[in-house]
Amino acid sequence: MTISCLGYVIFSSTDLKDWRHFGTQVVGAMDVAGDDTCVALKIDQQPFRILVEPGDADHVSALGFEMAGEIEFSALRDRLESEGFAIRNGSDSEARNRAVKAFFATIDPAGNPLEFYYSRVLDQTAFLSPIGVKSFVTGDMGLGHVVVPGGEDLEGTYAFYTAVLGLGDSDDLNMQLPGENAPAIRVRFLHAANARHHSLAIASLPSPSGLIHAMLEMEDFDDVGRCHDRVLAAKRQLMASLGRHCNDNMLSFYVVGPGGIPFEIGCDGLQVDWTNFEPTKSSVPDHWGHAYQFPA
Ligand SMILES: [Fe+2]
Repeated sequence: MTISCLGYVIFSSTDLKDWRHFGTQVVGAMDVAGDDTCVALKIDQQPFRILVEPGDADHVSALGFEMAGEIEFSALRDRLESEGFAIRNGSDSEARNRAVKAFFATIDPAGNPLEFYYSRVLDQTAFLSPIGVKSFVTGDMGLGHVVVPGGEDLEGTYAFYTAVLGLGDSDDLNMQLPGENAPAIRVRFLHAANARHHSLAIASLPSPSGLIHAMLEMEDFDDVGRCHDRVLAAKRQLMASLGRHCNDNMLSFYVVGPGGIPFEIGCDGLQVDWTNFEPTKSSVPDHWGHAYQFPA
């Protein structure tokens, strides 16, 4: 497996001011953009993990996956090109903005925008949360995880991520959403070459923003609880109450972030040694909690 982790996410936004407030005052990240033309949220030693650029709609514009090195990077680009995927090589200035040696962009079979890069330069400045979050759990496990729409052909999208990109199967969740006439949904959880239970999941759900949610992991439950307090104080809408997931053990809540993009804020995420791991099948998402209230 050559994808090391989910390294960064780039969003397009109609409201940078809201992102700046949410990112720094609710989540507790640093905004290191340097001016007001974008928002660059730093949560560790990396230059940023979330970049928000101005746009005429609120959506994810890139999920940035880190490749183990240049050889793996070039091999993946050749493979995707040979299978007919359209590739766009990032320009030097775009690569500089991302602090990576090089990257290319493509679109997965469900329409999700992906970028692959190698050799990201650390800025080596300390993470100092503006509101006192101790730390985020990142390092070689990457920024956290994202859940994206799997498209009409969930199995085709799953095959792309596993057979072509080389992500590993973590869990296959098949569940009935609560409520009369509510649909059954399926979520396939996938891991990269690090211990995080899943870096990406694909779900049989649509999402106007392109993201079903992004998860950031904090050091402990007190940091999560304080973030929950800040969400309530800022009168931001919760999308799910506190709860603990079964498959990755994450203790978390969900908040509707800027532009309607949901964020999961958690702690205690499972770290897995994949050597003898058998992918699991689940029929319930939570041990307890996570009462969902989906935004209109
Ligand atoms: Fe999640």
